[in-house]
Amino acid sequence: MGKLWGGRFTKQTNHLVDEYTASIGFDQALAEEDIQGSLAHVTMLGKCGIVPQEDVETIKAGLQTVLEKIRRGDIEFSVADEDIHMNVEKNLIAEIGPVGGKLHTGRSRNDQVATDMHLYLRKRVVELAGMLHELQKSLIGQARDNLDTIIPGYTHLQRAQPILFAHHLMAYVSMFQRDIERLMDSYKRINVLPLGAGALAGTTFPIDRHFVAEQLQFDRVYENSLDAVSDRDFIVEFLSHASIIMMHLSRLSEELVLWSSTEFNFIELDDAFCTGSSIMPQKKNPDVPELVRGKTGRVYGNLMGLLTVLKSLPLAYNKDMQEDKEGMFDTVATLEGALQLFAPMIATMKVNKGRMREAVNQDFSNATDIADFLVGKGLPFRQAHEVIGKTVLYCIQQGKYLLDLTLEEFQQFSPLFDDTIYRVLQPETVVNARNVYGGTATDQVAEAIKRGEVLLSMTEQWLAEHV
Ligand code: ARG
Repeated sequence: MGKLWGGRFTKQTNHLVDEYTASIGFDQALAEEDIQGSLAHVTMLGKCGIVPQEDVETIKAGLQTVLEKIRRGDIEFSVADEDIHMNVEKNLIAEIGPVGGKLHTGRSRNDQVATDMHLYLRKRVVELAGMLHELQKSLIGQARDNLDTIIPGYTHLQRAQPILFAHHLMAYVSMFQRDIERLMDSYKRINVLPLGAGALAGTTFPIDRHFVAEQLQFDRVYENSLDAVSDRDFIVEFLSHASIIMMHLSRLSEELVLWSSTEFNFIELDDAFCTGSSIMPQKKNPDVPELVRGKTGRVYGNLMGLLTVLKSLPLAYNKDMQEDKEGMFDTVATLEGALQLFAPMIATMKVNKGRMREAVNQDFSNATDIADFLVGKGLPFRQAHEVIGKTVLYCIQQGKYLLDLTLEEFQQFSPLFDDTIYRVLQPETVVNARNVYGGTATDQVAEAIKRGEVLLSMTEQWLAEHV
């Protein structure tokens, strides 16, 4: 059998053209979705009396056979048949004969491919939300174990104010929560059926789009047939959300890399998640977070790539749109690869509490709090800031920290100092003084963890409803 569309042609296609235009090399990943969509379509053709019921049964059985063969790896896809849609149809006809040719009644590859992509991404979005949820669980677990662990908090990567390590980890829980919510929200726009739009204008056959939508569990059908086949917003949106997820992962990665350096020595990643050096025997490298940081680039690239493919494209389908797939597959694989490692890597990471404490004791991150102390004694904040600036400078010159100063030394800078200052300057006091909703005080972080647990169970419920 020649090309499915060979009737109008008098010559064979140049084989380089076959190879250049084919998408089967990558869109075979849509085989399951393609057949799922075809089964719903042909069922509808039967219900609407467009194809006799008996043929419908033959076609459905044939599609099942083709699906099983594909799963077993028994089908050799052909570049001459261009894409997954025509490869499946060709194999169906080979399986059941010319009646297989009735499957494509009232349908075009344009609404077919769009349907496949919607089915595919719908599954992936749920999977990814589940993986982000696992990562949140790891982070919350570490936060629970580190409710008493204080680290220097940083701005400009300079020590700023002491915070609970748990508070720092919970910031990532909030970030990944937004990511999950973005994916959940995008589901509404992914879960719309394009099928029935035909090539662009609809179809002359009395089809029932809502019946197909119901069978495939789509919430809605596309309102406009041109939009149905031209829309790739849902993929652009997915790639944007994926980019933000990778951006978040890259920030966490960078912190893991920094924290596991000898200079910080705040954490140690489990051996199972690190690699060694072929020349330097002492090395234990944080390759996973480094590579995640690096792979963020390709996900951004995929987003820019698709935005550029779609820019200025006239309605409706254009072959350019075949370029929507590889970036999407690559993004899904990149995200899943990263997330599947991150959840266990965070769960097993060792927190070096002693070293964190040492870092907190050897810095000036309690300086704001003595300024606040003087404010409490009636000094305007701007003056208090100046006094403490001078005190810190004195400490640096003397090679001391604030807690090393005698009361006499403090009083050189302001007579308002008394010996309660030593309690004020303790890291625990400093942390717990920030007892504002969303702040780093132990009670607040304990509350934040509780709220995090509520979010976890809300996501679990959503996941259960969207399997
Ligand atoms: N392989 C094509 C794609 O991925 C399927 C749609 C082809 N439609 C067409 N009219 N050539 O975009």
